[in-house]
Amino acid sequence: MSPPIPVVIRGAAGRMGQAILRVLEERDDVVLAAALVRAGSAQVDRPVYPSTEVPLRYAEALAPGVTTGVLVDFSVAEAFDTGLALALERRLAFVSGTTGLDEPRRAALDRAAGSIPVLWSANFSLGVAVLTRLVRDAARALPEWDCEIVEAHHGRKLDAPSGTALALGRAAAADRGQDFDAVAVLARAGEQAVRREAQIGFAAVRAGDIVGEHTVLLATAGERIELVHRATDRWIFARGAVAAARWIAGRPPGRYTIEDVVFS
Ligand SMILES: NC(=O)c1ccc[n+]([C@@H]2O[C@H](COP(=O)([O-])OP(=O)(O)OC[C@H]3O[C@@H](n4cnc5c(N)ncnc54)[C@H](OP(=O)(O)O)[C@@H]3O)[C@@H](O)[C@H]2O)c1
Repeated sequence: MSPPIPVVIRGAAGRMGQAILRVLEERDDVVLAAALVRAGSAQVDRPVYPSTEVPLRYAEALAPGVTTGVLVDFSVAEAFDTGLALALERRLAFVSGTTGLDEPRRAALDRAAGSIPVLWSANFSLGVAVLTRLVRDAARALPEWDCEIVEAHHGRKLDAPSGTALALGRAAAADRGQDFDAVAVLARAGEQAVRREAQIGFAAVRAGDIVGEHTVLLATAGERIELVHRATDRWIFARGAVAAARWIAGRPPGRYTIEDVVFS
């Protein structure tokens, strides 16, 4: 059996970081190389897995010796640039699920893909990868139908519409040959209340402990299709991110997607 792939987690103290640390413990084809937290975090120097004989500790910087493997980033958009820069500096493959990335940050991912393997996904669930493919097919087959996307999440979520909703909208627009930024309406209010032709509209719900729900609605006079995905447990994202880390290790530089992991 080949040696386990070293994995660096960035945002290790967060909800996703903690879930990924647990998933790494379950598998023997990947191994934790470092658990990075925000500078000044109360977690720094605390053991990650206290029961192990020589416990690895949470750190705010990556030890110089770590130069192979995969950096998995689930942090915040403002911390994203330094995470990507670290992966580039150490020649680590980069897997990220951090959402709320603006256009310059998305462009930075494309540039980085010239030097290292890069996989960013707004949603690491297997079901959403399949949903995305279904949305592409439906949007292409029914180019004249209205497309609107409704998402629901817990109230602590920092961005709206969700990264997944935007990614679904981008997928639909791409398969219709539309410029997403020109047709997207991120919230319907005021001047945007009335639907105009070819628009892709979004609506966000924030309530309770909803892990993540996405409905892509395609409608025309007399009929409609609703493609729905409901996540009930954030473990699906952690398992998907670790599967992506395992899959991308050793691949040539390039931009990959979770659909590549699921369908290849
Ligand atoms: N793609 C997917 O499938 C998926 C699924 C779920 C969530 N997400 C996204 O993943 C991100 C994290 O989500 P979450 O629920 O885990 O949020 P969270 O619990 O708020 O965790 C974010 C973590 O990032 C840490 N952080 C902030 N700045 C940092 C820095 N400079 N270096 C290292 N760590 C830093 C924070 O540290 P402190 O705790 O010290 O503030 C926090 O622990 C969000 O963007 C979320 O939307 C994506």
